[in-house]
Amino acid sequence: MVTEKVYVFDTSLRDGEQAAGSRLGAREKLGIAQQLARLRVDIIEAGFPVSSPGEFEAVRLIAQKVEGPVICALARALPDDIIRAADAVRNAYSPRIHTFIGTSPQHMDMLKRPPHAILGMAVESVERARSFCEDVEFSPMDATRTEFDYLCEVIEAAIGAGATIINIPDTVGYAQPQQFGALIKDILRNISNIQGIVLSVHCHNDLGLAVANTLAAVDNGARQVECTINGIGERAGNAALEEVVMAIRTRRDYYSDVATGIDTREIVRASRLVADAFGMIVPANKAIVGANAFAHSSGIHQDGFLKNPETFEIIKPEDVGLDASKIVLTARSGRHALQHRLEQLGYYLSDEELGGFYETQFLPLSDKKKEVYDEDLIAMMGDEMQDISETYHLKYLHTSGGTGAIPTATVQIQIRDEVRQKAECGDGPVDATFKAIQAVVNLPTTLQQYAIRSVTSGTEAMGEVTVHLKEDGNVVIGRGVSTDIIEASAKAYIDGLNKLAVRKKASVE
Ligand code: KIV
Ligand code: ZN
Repeated sequence: MVTEKVYVFDTSLRDGEQAAGSRLGAREKLGIAQQLARLRVDIIEAGFPVSSPGEFEAVRLIAQKVEGPVICALARALPDDIIRAADAVRNAYSPRIHTFIGTSPQHMDMLKRPPHAILGMAVESVERARSFCEDVEFSPMDATRTEFDYLCEVIEAAIGAGATIINIPDTVGYAQPQQFGALIKDILRNISNIQGIVLSVHCHNDLGLAVANTLAAVDNGARQVECTINGIGERAGNAALEEVVMAIRTRRDYYSDVATGIDTREIVRASRLVADAFGMIVPANKAIVGANAFAHSSGIHQDGFLKNPETFEIIKPEDVGLDASKIVLTARSGRHALQHRLEQLGYYLSDEELGGFYETQFLPLSDKKKEVYDEDLIAMMGDEMQDISETYHLKYLHTSGGTGAIPTATVQIQIRDEVRQKAECGDGPVDATFKAIQAVVNLPTTLQQYAIRSVTSGTEAMGEVTVHLKEDGNVVIGRGVSTDIIEASAKAYIDGLNKLAVRKKASVE
Protein backbone atom coordinates (compact mmCIF):
# COMPACT_ATOMS: atom_id res chain seq x y z
CA MET A 1 0.00 0.00 0.00
CA VAL A 2 1.28 3.50 -0.86
CA THR A 3 1.75 5.73 2.16
CA GLU A 4 0.60 9.30 1.56
CA LYS A 5 2.23 12.17 3.38
CA VAL A 6 0.24 14.35 5.73
CA TYR A 7 1.90 17.76 5.69
CA VAL A 8 2.23 19.37 9.11
CA PHE A 9 1.66 23.13 9.07
CA ASP A 10 2.58 24.78 12.36
CA THR A 11 0.87 28.05 13.23
CA SER A 12 2.17 28.49 16.81
CA LEU A 13 3.90 31.69 15.80
CA ARG A 14 0.75 33.12 14.19
CA ASP A 15 -2.52 31.71 15.60
CA GLY A 16 -0.68 30.72 18.80
CA GLU A 17 0.85 34.10 19.31
CA GLN A 18 -2.45 35.84 18.57
CA ALA A 19 -3.79 34.22 21.72
CA ALA A 20 -0.93 34.95 24.04
CA GLY A 21 -2.01 38.58 24.49
CA SER A 22 1.53 39.69 23.91
CA ARG A 23 4.01 39.66 21.07
CA LEU A 24 7.28 37.78 21.18
CA GLY A 25 10.51 39.45 20.11
CA ALA A 26 12.01 38.52 16.74
CA ARG A 27 14.85 36.52 18.35
CA GLU A 28 12.45 34.52 20.50
CA LYS A 29 10.35 33.76 17.41
CA LEU A 30 13.44 32.76 15.49
CA GLY A 31 14.44 30.36 18.29
CA ILE A 32 11.02 28.70 18.13
CA ALA A 33 11.10 28.54 14.32
CA GLN A 34 14.49 26.84 14.47
CA GLN A 35 13.11 24.25 16.85
CA LEU A 36 10.10 23.73 14.54
CA ALA A 37 12.58 23.09 11.73
CA ARG A 38 14.34 20.48 13.89
CA LEU A 39 10.92 18.96 14.58
CA ARG A 40 10.64 18.75 10.76
CA VAL A 41 7.34 20.51 10.37
CA ASP A 42 6.65 21.01 6.69
CA ILE A 43 5.37 24.56 6.89
CA ILE A 44 5.90 27.29 9.50
CA GLU A 45 3.29 30.05 9.52
CA ALA A 46 5.67 32.67 10.85
CA GLY A 47 3.22 35.52 11.35
CA PHE A 48 0.89 38.16 9.94
CA PRO A 49 3.34 40.74 8.53
CA VAL A 50 0.89 43.60 7.93
CA SER A 51 -0.11 43.64 11.60
CA SER A 52 2.96 45.55 12.84
CA PRO A 53 6.53 46.45 11.85
CA GLY A 54 7.83 44.10 14.58
CA GLU A 55 5.80 41.23 13.19
CA PHE A 56 7.03 41.95 9.66
CA GLU A 57 10.62 41.93 10.91
CA ALA A 58 10.16 38.63 12.74
CA VAL A 59 8.70 36.93 9.64
CA ARG A 60 11.49 38.39 7.47
CA LEU A 61 14.16 37.13 9.90
CA ILE A 62 12.67 33.63 10.00
CA ALA A 63 12.37 33.55 6.19
CA GLN A 64 16.01 34.54 5.92
CA LYS A 65 17.45 32.20 8.55
CA VAL A 66 15.35 29.07 8.82
CA GLU A 67 16.09 26.34 6.31
CA GLY A 68 13.98 23.29 5.64
CA PRO A 69 10.30 24.12 6.09
CA VAL A 70 8.22 26.30 3.80
CA ILE A 71 7.92 29.74 5.45
CA CYS A 72 4.42 31.09 5.22
CA ALA A 73 3.01 34.56 5.88
CA LEU A 74 -0.66 35.29 6.52
CA ALA A 75 -2.59 38.00 4.65
CA ARG A 76 -6.21 39.08 4.55
CA ALA A 77 -7.69 39.24 1.06
CA LEU A 78 -6.49 42.82 0.72
CA PRO A 79 -3.80 44.17 -1.63
CA ASP A 80 -1.63 45.78 1.08
CA ASP A 81 -1.68 42.63 3.23
CA ILE A 82 -0.56 40.49 0.31
CA ILE A 83 2.21 42.87 -0.74
CA ARG A 84 3.51 43.00 2.83
CA ALA A 85 3.33 39.19 3.23
CA ALA A 86 5.14 38.69 -0.09
CA ASP A 87 7.85 41.12 0.97
CA ALA A 88 8.34 39.39 4.34
CA VAL A 89 8.87 35.89 2.87
CA ARG A 90 10.74 37.07 -0.24
CA ASN A 91 14.08 35.63 0.95
CA ALA A 92 12.75 32.27 2.07
CA TYR A 93 14.04 29.21 0.26
CA SER A 94 10.42 28.04 -0.07
CA PRO A 95 7.97 30.89 0.55
CA ARG A 96 4.19 30.65 0.84
CA ILE A 97 1.45 33.28 1.09
CA HIS A 98 -1.71 32.27 2.94
CA THR A 99 -4.67 34.49 2.20
CA PHE A 100 -8.13 34.23 3.75
CA ILE A 101 -11.59 35.76 3.76
CA GLY A 102 -14.74 34.96 5.77
CA THR A 103 -17.41 33.11 3.77
CA SER A 104 -20.05 32.27 6.39
CA PRO A 105 -23.17 34.48 6.69
CA GLN A 106 -21.82 35.76 10.02
CA HIS A 107 -18.47 36.77 8.52
CA MET A 108 -19.94 38.24 5.32
CA ASP A 109 -22.24 40.37 7.50
CA MET A 110 -19.24 41.56 9.48
CA LEU A 111 -17.42 42.46 6.26
CA LYS A 112 -20.60 44.13 4.94
CA ARG A 113 -20.08 42.50 1.54
CA PRO A 114 -22.47 40.29 -0.49
CA PRO A 115 -21.36 36.76 -1.48
CA HIS A 116 -20.36 37.70 -5.05
CA ALA A 117 -18.11 40.50 -3.77
CA ILE A 118 -16.43 38.14 -1.27
CA LEU A 119 -15.84 35.66 -4.08
CA GLY A 120 -14.33 38.44 -6.20
CA MET A 121 -11.98 39.45 -3.36
CA ALA A 122 -10.90 35.84 -2.89
CA VAL A 123 -10.07 35.47 -6.59
CA GLU A 124 -8.26 38.81 -6.79
CA SER A 125 -6.19 38.10 -3.68
CA VAL A 126 -5.15 34.64 -4.84
CA GLU A 127 -4.18 36.06 -8.25
CA ARG A 128 -2.21 38.85 -6.59
CA ALA A 129 -0.47 36.39 -4.24
CA ARG A 130 0.37 34.15 -7.22
CA SER A 131 2.01 37.12 -8.95
CA PHE A 132 4.59 37.05 -6.10
CA CYS A 133 4.78 33.41 -5.12
CA GLU A 134 4.11 29.99 -6.64
CA ASP A 135 2.86 28.50 -3.40
CA VAL A 136 -0.46 30.10 -2.37
CA GLU A 137 -2.85 28.83 0.27
CA PHE A 138 -6.43 30.04 0.40
CA SER A 139 -8.79 29.76 3.40
CA PRO A 140 -12.54 30.41 3.28
CA MET A 141 -12.70 31.47 6.93
CA ASP A 142 -15.47 29.93 9.06
CA ALA A 143 -15.91 27.25 6.38
CA THR A 144 -17.87 25.00 8.71
CA ARG A 145 -20.67 27.58 9.03
CA THR A 146 -20.59 28.43 5.32
CA GLU A 147 -23.42 27.33 3.02
CA PHE A 148 -22.02 24.25 1.19
CA ASP A 149 -22.74 25.21 -2.46
CA TYR A 150 -21.30 28.67 -1.92
CA LEU A 151 -18.24 27.17 -0.17
CA CYS A 152 -17.62 24.95 -3.21
CA GLU A 153 -18.09 27.89 -5.57
CA VAL A 154 -15.49 29.98 -3.67
CA ILE A 155 -13.00 27.10 -3.46
CA GLU A 156 -13.37 26.32 -7.17
CA ALA A 157 -12.81 29.97 -8.04
CA ALA A 158 -9.77 30.21 -5.74
CA ILE A 159 -8.22 27.13 -7.39
CA GLY A 160 -9.03 28.64 -10.79
CA ALA A 161 -7.17 31.78 -9.70
CA GLY A 162 -4.07 29.75 -8.82
CA ALA A 163 -4.40 28.54 -5.20
CA THR A 164 -2.26 25.45 -4.65
CA ILE A 165 -3.52 24.59 -1.17
CA ILE A 166 -7.09 24.92 0.04
CA ASN A 167 -7.53 25.12 3.79
CA ILE A 168 -10.85 24.45 5.51
CA PRO A 169 -10.90 26.37 8.79
CA ASP A 170 -13.24 25.44 11.60
CA THR A 171 -12.69 28.96 12.85
CA VAL A 172 -15.02 28.84 15.84
CA GLY A 173 -14.56 25.18 16.75
CA TYR A 174 -18.14 24.39 15.69
CA ALA A 175 -17.51 21.17 13.80
CA GLN A 176 -18.27 17.67 14.97
CA PRO A 177 -15.94 14.86 13.85
CA GLN A 178 -18.31 12.74 11.72
CA GLN A 179 -19.82 15.81 10.10
CA PHE A 180 -16.43 17.41 9.49
CA GLY A 181 -15.06 14.21 7.94
CA ALA A 182 -18.11 14.10 5.66
CA LEU A 183 -17.57 17.76 4.70
CA ILE A 184 -13.98 16.99 3.65
CA LYS A 185 -15.13 14.01 1.61
CA ASP A 186 -17.88 16.06 -0.06
CA ILE A 187 -15.46 18.87 -0.92
CA LEU A 188 -13.07 16.40 -2.54
CA ARG A 189 -15.96 14.81 -4.46
CA ASN A 190 -17.77 17.96 -5.55
CA ILE A 191 -15.06 20.32 -6.70
CA SER A 192 -14.17 19.67 -10.30
CA ASN A 193 -10.67 21.22 -10.30
CA ILE A 194 -9.44 19.91 -6.91
CA GLN A 195 -7.18 17.21 -8.33
CA GLY A 196 -3.54 17.97 -7.50
CA ILE A 197 -4.54 20.44 -4.80
CA VAL A 198 -3.60 19.72 -1.16
CA LEU A 199 -6.68 19.93 1.05
CA SER A 200 -5.85 21.26 4.49
CA VAL A 201 -7.75 21.65 7.77
CA HIS A 202 -7.42 24.18 10.58
CA CYS A 203 -9.46 23.24 13.64
CA HIS A 204 -10.12 25.28 16.75
CA ASN A 205 -10.84 23.70 20.10
CA ASP A 206 -13.92 25.52 21.41
CA LEU A 207 -15.72 22.23 22.03
CA GLY A 208 -12.56 20.30 22.81
CA LEU A 209 -12.78 18.57 19.40
CA ALA A 210 -9.94 20.17 17.44
CA VAL A 211 -7.75 17.05 17.38
CA ALA A 212 -10.70 14.70 16.78
CA ASN A 213 -11.90 16.88 13.88
CA THR A 214 -8.42 17.06 12.39
CA LEU A 215 -8.06 13.28 12.51
CA ALA A 216 -11.53 12.79 11.01
CA ALA A 217 -10.47 15.07 8.15
CA VAL A 218 -7.28 13.04 7.58
CA ASP A 219 -9.42 9.92 7.51
CA ASN A 220 -11.43 11.49 4.71
CA GLY A 221 -8.63 12.76 2.52
CA ALA A 222 -7.20 15.95 4.05
CA ARG A 223 -3.43 15.91 3.58
CA GLN A 224 -2.34 19.03 5.45
CA VAL A 225 -3.04 19.57 9.14
CA GLU A 226 -2.72 23.00 10.72
CA CYS A 227 -1.69 22.73 14.35
CA THR A 228 0.12 24.46 17.17
CA ILE A 229 2.55 23.23 19.79
CA ASN A 230 0.71 22.53 23.07
CA GLY A 231 -2.53 23.43 21.25
CA ILE A 232 -2.07 27.16 21.88
CA GLY A 233 -4.22 29.49 19.81
CA GLU A 234 -7.20 31.81 19.76
CA ARG A 235 -9.66 31.23 22.65
CA ALA A 236 -9.57 27.50 23.54
CA GLY A 237 -6.70 27.00 21.09
CA ASN A 238 -5.98 25.00 17.96
CA ALA A 239 -5.40 21.31 17.32
CA ALA A 240 -2.30 20.29 19.30
CA LEU A 241 0.45 19.22 16.91
CA GLU A 242 1.88 16.64 19.29
CA GLU A 243 -1.51 14.96 19.72
CA VAL A 244 -2.35 14.78 16.02
CA VAL A 245 1.12 13.54 15.08
CA MET A 246 1.34 10.96 17.85
CA ALA A 247 -2.20 9.69 17.15
CA ILE A 248 -1.29 9.04 13.51
CA ARG A 249 2.02 7.43 14.51
CA THR A 250 0.78 5.36 17.45
CA ARG A 251 -2.28 4.08 15.63
CA ARG A 252 -0.42 3.12 12.47
CA ASP A 253 -2.72 0.10 12.33
CA TYR A 254 -5.69 2.45 11.81
CA TYR A 255 -4.01 5.30 9.84
CA SER A 256 -2.21 2.75 7.72
CA ASP A 257 -2.12 4.75 4.48
CA VAL A 258 -0.72 8.03 5.88
CA ALA A 259 2.33 9.29 7.77
CA THR A 260 3.81 12.63 8.80
CA GLY A 261 7.48 13.51 8.44
CA ILE A 262 7.78 14.79 12.03
CA ASP A 263 10.81 13.87 14.12
CA THR A 264 8.77 13.05 17.19
CA ARG A 265 11.87 12.99 19.45
CA GLU A 266 11.86 16.79 19.21
CA ILE A 267 8.30 17.14 20.54
CA VAL A 268 9.03 17.67 24.23
CA ARG A 269 11.77 20.20 23.50
CA ALA A 270 9.39 22.14 21.25
CA SER A 271 6.66 22.01 23.88
CA ARG A 272 8.90 23.39 26.63
CA LEU A 273 10.36 26.10 24.43
CA VAL A 274 6.92 27.33 23.35
CA ALA A 275 5.41 27.14 26.85
CA ASP A 276 8.27 29.13 28.25
CA ALA A 277 8.29 31.78 25.53
CA PHE A 278 4.55 32.39 25.87
CA GLY A 279 4.57 32.25 29.66
CA MET A 280 2.03 29.41 29.57
CA ILE A 281 1.98 26.46 31.88
CA VAL A 282 1.37 23.06 30.28
CA PRO A 283 -1.20 21.22 32.44
CA ALA A 284 0.31 18.15 34.12
CA ASN A 285 -2.30 15.87 32.54
CA LYS A 286 -1.89 17.27 29.01
CA ALA A 287 -1.61 14.42 26.50
CA ILE A 288 1.91 13.65 25.22
CA VAL A 289 3.73 16.60 26.83
CA GLY A 290 2.20 17.04 30.31
CA ALA A 291 4.42 16.27 33.30
CA ASN A 292 2.22 13.29 34.17
CA ALA A 293 1.80 11.95 30.63
CA PHE A 294 4.29 9.17 31.43
CA ALA A 295 3.92 9.04 35.21
CA HIS A 296 2.38 5.98 36.79
CA SER A 297 1.10 6.58 40.27
CA SER A 298 -1.25 3.86 41.44
CA GLY A 299 0.23 0.67 42.85
CA ILE A 300 -1.45 -1.57 40.27
CA HIS A 301 -0.23 0.63 37.42
CA GLN A 302 3.30 0.78 38.78
CA ASP A 303 3.40 -2.97 39.21
CA GLY A 304 2.05 -3.64 35.72
CA PHE A 305 4.33 -1.05 34.17
CA LEU A 306 7.43 -2.50 35.84
CA LYS A 307 6.59 -5.99 34.58
CA ASN A 308 5.95 -4.72 31.06
CA PRO A 309 5.79 -1.00 30.13
CA GLU A 310 3.27 -1.74 27.37
CA THR A 311 0.67 -2.72 29.99
CA PHE A 312 0.02 0.95 30.73
CA GLU A 313 1.98 2.85 28.09
CA ILE A 314 1.09 3.16 24.40
CA ILE A 315 3.97 5.52 23.60
CA LYS A 316 7.61 5.16 24.62
CA PRO A 317 8.74 8.35 26.40
CA GLU A 318 11.94 8.42 24.34
CA ASP A 319 9.85 8.57 21.14
CA VAL A 320 8.72 12.09 22.11
CA GLY A 321 12.11 13.20 23.36
CA LEU A 322 11.93 12.29 27.03
CA ASP A 323 15.35 10.72 26.88
CA ALA A 324 16.67 9.49 30.19
CA SER A 325 20.32 9.76 29.29
CA LYS A 326 21.71 13.19 29.91
CA ILE A 327 24.82 14.92 31.15
CA VAL A 328 24.39 16.09 34.74
CA LEU A 329 25.31 19.77 34.94
CA THR A 330 26.80 21.01 38.21
CA ALA A 331 29.06 23.84 39.38
CA ARG A 332 32.00 21.71 38.19
CA SER A 333 30.75 21.55 34.61
CA GLY A 334 32.63 23.54 32.02
CA ARG A 335 31.48 25.61 29.08
CA HIS A 336 31.72 22.69 26.70
CA ALA A 337 29.27 20.56 28.67
CA LEU A 338 26.98 23.57 28.98
CA GLN A 339 27.16 24.27 25.25
CA HIS A 340 26.44 20.61 24.43
CA ARG A 341 23.37 20.59 26.65
CA LEU A 342 22.12 23.94 25.37
CA GLU A 343 22.45 22.72 21.80
CA GLN A 344 20.53 19.57 22.67
CA LEU A 345 17.81 21.86 23.98
CA GLY A 346 17.84 23.88 20.77
CA TYR A 347 19.86 26.93 21.82
CA TYR A 348 22.84 27.76 19.61
CA LEU A 349 24.98 30.53 21.12
CA SER A 350 28.05 32.27 19.74
CA ASP A 351 31.27 31.84 21.79
CA GLU A 352 30.77 35.32 23.23
CA GLU A 353 27.13 34.67 24.16
CA LEU A 354 28.06 31.32 25.69
CA GLY A 355 30.80 32.93 27.79
CA GLY A 356 28.42 35.59 29.07
CA PHE A 357 25.69 33.07 29.84
CA TYR A 358 28.15 30.77 31.63
CA GLU A 359 29.52 33.52 33.85
CA THR A 360 26.40 35.52 34.63
CA GLN A 361 23.67 32.88 34.69
CA PHE A 362 24.99 29.33 34.86
CA LEU A 363 27.71 29.67 37.51
CA PRO A 364 25.67 31.75 39.99
CA LEU A 365 22.83 29.20 39.78
CA SER A 366 25.04 26.11 39.95
CA ASP A 367 26.63 27.56 43.07
CA LYS A 368 23.20 27.53 44.70
CA LYS A 369 21.95 24.19 43.36
CA LYS A 370 23.26 20.65 43.39
CA GLU A 371 22.23 20.06 39.79
CA VAL A 372 21.16 22.38 37.00
CA TYR A 373 18.28 20.78 35.11
CA ASP A 374 17.11 21.30 31.53
CA GLU A 375 14.16 23.27 32.84
CA ASP A 376 16.52 25.65 34.67
CA LEU A 377 18.44 26.26 31.45
CA ILE A 378 15.25 26.80 29.47
CA ALA A 379 13.99 29.29 32.04
CA MET A 380 17.28 31.19 32.04
CA MET A 381 17.48 31.14 28.25
CA GLY A 382 13.99 32.63 28.16
CA ASP A 383 15.51 35.70 29.78
CA GLU A 384 18.57 35.68 27.51
CA MET A 385 16.64 35.40 24.26
CA GLN A 386 14.72 38.58 24.73
CA ASP A 387 16.08 41.39 22.63
CA ILE A 388 14.98 43.94 25.19
CA SER A 389 17.26 46.83 26.07
CA GLU A 390 17.28 47.62 29.77
CA THR A 391 15.72 50.92 30.76
CA TYR A 392 15.20 49.70 34.33
CA HIS A 393 17.68 47.54 36.19
CA LEU A 394 17.08 46.05 39.64
CA LYS A 395 20.14 46.86 41.76
CA TYR A 396 18.97 45.97 45.24
CA LEU A 397 16.01 44.25 46.88
CA HIS A 398 15.34 43.64 50.52
CA THR A 399 12.10 42.35 52.00
CA SER A 400 11.05 41.66 55.53
CA GLY A 401 7.96 40.00 56.93
CA GLY A 402 6.80 37.08 59.01
CA THR A 403 3.91 36.29 61.35
CA GLY A 404 2.77 39.49 63.06
CA ALA A 405 5.14 41.71 61.05
CA ILE A 406 4.09 44.10 58.31
CA PRO A 407 5.58 42.94 55.00
CA THR A 408 7.96 45.63 53.74
CA ALA A 409 10.16 45.89 50.66
CA THR A 410 12.99 48.23 49.77
CA VAL A 411 14.17 48.43 46.17
CA GLN A 412 16.87 50.29 44.34
CA ILE A 413 16.41 50.62 40.61
CA GLN A 414 18.83 52.04 38.13
CA ILE A 415 17.10 54.14 35.48
CA ARG A 416 19.82 54.98 32.98
CA ASP A 417 22.46 56.88 35.01
CA GLU A 418 20.33 57.48 38.07
CA VAL A 419 19.68 55.12 40.98
CA ARG A 420 16.38 55.60 42.81
CA GLN A 421 15.26 53.94 46.02
CA LYS A 422 11.86 53.44 47.70
CA ALA A 423 10.37 51.35 50.48
CA GLU A 424 6.72 50.25 50.69
CA CYS A 425 4.49 47.99 52.76
CA GLY A 426 2.04 45.53 51.22
CA ASP A 427 -0.25 42.53 51.70
CA GLY A 428 2.75 40.25 51.42
CA PRO A 429 6.40 40.52 50.36
CA VAL A 430 5.60 40.28 46.63
CA ASP A 431 2.89 42.94 46.87
CA ALA A 432 5.24 45.19 48.87
CA THR A 433 7.98 44.66 46.24
CA PHE A 434 5.67 45.56 43.35
CA LYS A 435 4.46 48.66 45.23
CA ALA A 436 8.05 49.76 45.88
CA ILE A 437 8.96 49.29 42.20
CA GLN A 438 5.86 51.27 41.20
CA ALA A 439 6.81 54.03 43.64
CA VAL A 440 10.23 54.28 41.97
CA VAL A 441 9.12 54.22 38.34
CA ASN A 442 5.84 56.10 38.86
CA LEU A 443 4.07 54.78 35.74
CA PRO A 444 0.35 54.05 35.13
CA THR A 445 1.08 50.33 34.82
CA THR A 446 -1.44 47.75 36.02
CA LEU A 447 -0.72 44.17 36.95
CA GLN A 448 -3.21 41.93 35.14
CA GLN A 449 -1.91 38.47 35.91
CA TYR A 450 0.67 36.92 38.16
CA ALA A 451 1.74 33.28 37.94
CA ILE A 452 4.46 31.36 39.63
CA ARG A 453 5.71 27.89 38.95
CA SER A 454 8.51 25.81 40.23
CA VAL A 455 10.79 25.05 37.33
CA THR A 456 12.42 22.04 38.96
CA SER A 457 11.69 20.10 42.10
CA GLY A 458 13.35 20.33 45.52
CA THR A 459 13.68 23.17 47.98
CA GLU A 460 16.45 24.80 45.96
CA ALA A 461 14.29 24.77 42.81
CA MET A 462 14.16 27.74 40.48
CA GLY A 463 10.90 29.65 40.62
CA GLU A 464 9.67 31.21 37.40
CA VAL A 465 7.31 34.15 37.68
CA THR A 466 5.34 35.55 34.77
CA VAL A 467 3.40 38.79 35.00
CA HIS A 468 1.09 40.40 32.46
CA LEU A 469 1.48 44.18 32.68
CA LYS A 470 -0.78 46.68 30.95
CA GLU A 471 -0.11 50.29 30.10
CA ASP A 472 -1.82 52.53 27.53
CA GLY A 473 -3.48 49.54 25.85
CA ASN A 474 -0.21 47.57 25.55
CA VAL A 475 -0.03 44.23 27.32
CA VAL A 476 3.34 42.55 27.79
CA ILE A 477 4.56 39.42 29.52
CA GLY A 478 7.41 39.90 31.97
CA ARG A 479 9.36 36.91 33.10
CA GLY A 480 11.84 36.37 35.93
CA VAL A 481 13.62 33.34 37.29
CA SER A 482 15.47 32.87 40.52
CA THR A 483 15.79 30.40 43.35
CA ASP A 484 14.17 33.18 45.44
CA ILE A 485 10.55 33.71 44.38
CA ILE A 486 10.43 37.32 45.56
CA GLU A 487 13.48 38.14 43.49
CA ALA A 488 11.93 36.23 40.55
CA SER A 489 8.78 38.37 40.98
CA ALA A 490 10.76 41.62 41.05
CA LYS A 491 12.72 40.54 37.97
CA ALA A 492 9.52 39.64 36.14
CA TYR A 493 7.98 43.04 36.94
CA ILE A 494 11.11 44.90 35.83
CA ASP A 495 11.30 42.76 32.67
CA GLY A 496 7.70 43.76 31.89
CA LEU A 497 8.50 47.44 32.47
CA ASN A 498 11.46 47.17 30.08
CA LYS A 499 9.24 45.62 27.43
CA LEU A 500 6.66 48.38 27.87
CA ALA A 501 9.45 50.94 27.51
CA VAL A 502 10.45 49.33 24.18
CA ARG A 503 6.81 49.46 23.03
CA LYS A 504 6.51 53.13 23.97
CA LYS A 505 9.73 53.95 22.15
CA ALA A 506 8.58 52.07 19.05
CA SER A 507 5.25 53.93 18.97
CA VAL A 508 7.02 57.33 19.24
CA GLU A 509 9.51 56.51 16.44
O1 KIV B 1 -9.22 30.24 12.48
C1 KIV B 1 -9.12 30.70 11.33
O2 KIV B 1 -10.06 30.71 10.53
C2 KIV B 1 -7.82 31.23 10.94
C3 KIV B 1 -7.66 31.58 9.49
C4 KIV B 1 -6.80 32.78 9.31
C5 KIV B 1 -7.16 30.40 8.74
O3 KIV B 1 -6.91 31.31 11.75
ZN1 ZN C 1 -7.31 29.98 13.50
